[in-house]
Amino acid sequence: MIFHQKHLLKTNMKIQLLTLALAGILTAQAQSRQEILLQDDWQFSRDKQTWQTVSVPHDWAISGPFDKKWDLQTVAIEQNGEKIATEKSGRSGSLPWIGEGHYKRVITIPSDFSGHAELIFDGAMAEPTVFINGKQAGYWAYGYNTFRVDITPFIKGGDNLLEVHLKNVEESSRWYPGAGIYRPVTLVLTPQQARIDDWGITTRTELHVKDGKGIDCAKLVVEVPILNAGEGLPVIMELFSPDDKNKLWVCPAPQKRGSGKAVGTFMIPDAQLWTPETPNLYKLRITLCDGITAPNVYDDFGKAIDRKTMKVGLRTVRVSKEKGFQLNDVTRKLKGVCLHHDLGPLGAAVNKAALIRQIKIMKEMGCDAIRTAHNMPSQWQMDICDSLGMMVMAESFDMWKYRKCKNGYARFFDQWADKDITNLVKANRNHPSIVMWSIGNEIPEQWSEEGRQIAIRLQGLVHSLDPSRPVTQGMDRVDNALASGFAQAMDVPGLNYRLNKYQKAYDTLTHGFLLGSETASTVSSRGTYYFPVTPTDKGVHPDGQCSGYDVEWCSWSNLPDDDWQWQDDKDWVIGEFVWTGFDYLGEPTPYDEYWPSRSSYFGICDLAGLPKDRYYLYRSHWRKDEHTIHLLPHWTWGKDRVGKVTPVYCYTDYDEAELFVNGKSQGRIKKNPKEHLDRYRLRWNNVKYEPGEVKVVVYDANGSVAGEKVMKTAGKPANLKTEVWTQNAMSSLKADGNDLAYVTVSLVDKNGTLIPDAADQLSFEVSGAGTFKAVCNGDATSLEVFTEPTMKLFAGQLVVVCQAGKEKGQLTLTVKDKQRKLTRKISIPVE
Ligand code: GAL
Repeated sequence: MIFHQKHLLKTNMKIQLLTLALAGILTAQAQSRQEILLQDDWQFSRDKQTWQTVSVPHDWAISGPFDKKWDLQTVAIEQNGEKIATEKSGRSGSLPWIGEGHYKRVITIPSDFSGHAELIFDGAMAEPTVFINGKQAGYWAYGYNTFRVDITPFIKGGDNLLEVHLKNVEESSRWYPGAGIYRPVTLVLTPQQARIDDWGITTRTELHVKDGKGIDCAKLVVEVPILNAGEGLPVIMELFSPDDKNKLWVCPAPQKRGSGKAVGTFMIPDAQLWTPETPNLYKLRITLCDGITAPNVYDDFGKAIDRKTMKVGLRTVRVSKEKGFQLNDVTRKLKGVCLHHDLGPLGAAVNKAALIRQIKIMKEMGCDAIRTAHNMPSQWQMDICDSLGMMVMAESFDMWKYRKCKNGYARFFDQWADKDITNLVKANRNHPSIVMWSIGNEIPEQWSEEGRQIAIRLQGLVHSLDPSRPVTQGMDRVDNALASGFAQAMDVPGLNYRLNKYQKAYDTLTHGFLLGSETASTVSSRGTYYFPVTPTDKGVHPDGQCSGYDVEWCSWSNLPDDDWQWQDDKDWVIGEFVWTGFDYLGEPTPYDEYWPSRSSYFGICDLAGLPKDRYYLYRSHWRKDEHTIHLLPHWTWGKDRVGKVTPVYCYTDYDEAELFVNGKSQGRIKKNPKEHLDRYRLRWNNVKYEPGEVKVVVYDANGSVAGEKVMKTAGKPANLKTEVWTQNAMSSLKADGNDLAYVTVSLVDKNGTLIPDAADQLSFEVSGAGTFKAVCNGDATSLEVFTEPTMKLFAGQLVVVCQAGKEKGQLTLTVKDKQRKLTRKISIPVE
């Protein structure tokens, strides 16, 4: 067999393909690259005088305090149609993210090291300058992008000082950007100068369809550029099946001398394709051999001198006039949400468990896609989307040359845009989850020829780096974009809101489809309801909250129900990305001018990740595999509501239901496709409140009872209830110093019914094998800091985040409600 390989390699240089049992034949302890996560032992300072030890990812601003003075802006928000400048207090989160920050730590390089050393920053906010041993080694302007710094010329064997300087300027963001080295930093050491260019690797799938009926096999083409290849070194590529049991092996022709490319093709019978429902991932192992030093691991190919292992998903993406958006040749509509990058009480600092929680919550709702609004995603987030099954629109910019805020990215655009797009695509193009790229959000230049030219240039650049995915951007000035040819230029025309322009855009464009790149912007607060219930785009209330009845939106936006009419009635609308899956820090519309609002109301879930009622509206519409029956509002009102009209809504996938209050029927009703708010919701608008019980009974298409849901009036507060979320199903944590448990605390009566207006001050203590990390109650007007172990309940609930230590044991969380003399203690195993 070895002879056969060698023969082919040397003679016709054809790609070889062999299916081998995993066991034995090519196991290798390659001397290989080291990828070292620089997590601990960082020193951080704001002024270079006092230093504190921190671990990275780190967000220096999230501990607050909240203050109106941070980034206080007197501006007219043009995007919201404002003409007159007014004071905007919470626009970028009211946290102290502006100013300078300094990080330093030692990195140790082996004394005999003669290879290549590089740092990969996944994002640092902002304008990071990197120094090694006092000399500037790198700089990147955009805080959201990943970048690499070649530190080979600056290092010596032994200890080296790594320093990172950051600078955040005021009025540079429309939301909370975070501050610090908020994404991981990795040191990559390759033993020789000859090495795999990992950002140069591309993996591309083709599907072979048998007689037009189903997939026969998948073809995966892998291209691996090799840097400084000397005499032209052999490359071995191994592809392991998702269960790790089978392996395909190719040894492509050696690349040409010097820096060249190895191209390998795998033909994979019975391919296990990647979809959000079946996120199958193959493992690809690429080994660069020295071709000389036999005998060794790969016999004829010599010793391994560099190796890269990565996950690959087999899948294709296409958009077409006839079939719309297709994944693996199957047409589907994107059921997406936009996500800003912050993780609520953790700020911008990424954490795998927190990212997993976000994606799982969205998947449970039936969401199958996210848009990384309005900037580059973190690598961890993309890994998680790959493995959990979540499609992604990976975005880049919120502005080009024209400023949306005084010191925004427009400062850098001319010099940096192409570099930023290049890094975005190169770093992320092998993630199967990414199904489209976005070159911008609501770029003001939509009307101009210059804007059209930039769009063509950036889209062309993306195509040159990745011909396999379409490119889009979110357009809000639809008439302008159609008149200027801006919209025509895009692979996928994306419209933000402006449902009244969908038809015109479709008729004007020749694409034959369009995407709701941003939809809804409905505003609501968890567990908060106002009477009378009034659908409005001007809803503001004295307490700075929005209606939980999901009937309030902004002048430029709409309700979910409005989007769905287009999504459902027009084949040519290929899906939507709802603004937003979770509340985020900053942009407290409609309370941009109201202090202390400091975070958004747009989320389907609140800032703590707790679902608002709207979650169940989306779930009832998006999930086809499970039923949803959700009732609102809560049924615990004071004496002043008794006898008053208190509408009841049911969010369910069933079309028909009957409502009962204390056994009395309030009517059996059906969804009504002709009435805007009755097509997707069941509403009883004239129910009068009386304490007791409200019950809904739902009926299936045959008129048979299919389920019911009951809500009861709460009695006296009796207990603190806790529900633990961890990324594994066992409710335990990994002893890795990073894993997180999210503990939802609710004040309940003796039967477990939520006290929906409870605002008790709670305190928390974590002992044992972990620490208290943060707490959040989802109240957009709260000025209590997330990192102090005390907070008020909001609408009866809050979420405490506990972090595992590095030692195994039990983590104990004690929650106290002093006012009511209630204590709840729970233990979480750390393993
Ligand atoms: C959009 C914009 C988003 C957000 C949203 C609020 O126009 O793209 O970033 O500002 O409005 O409704």
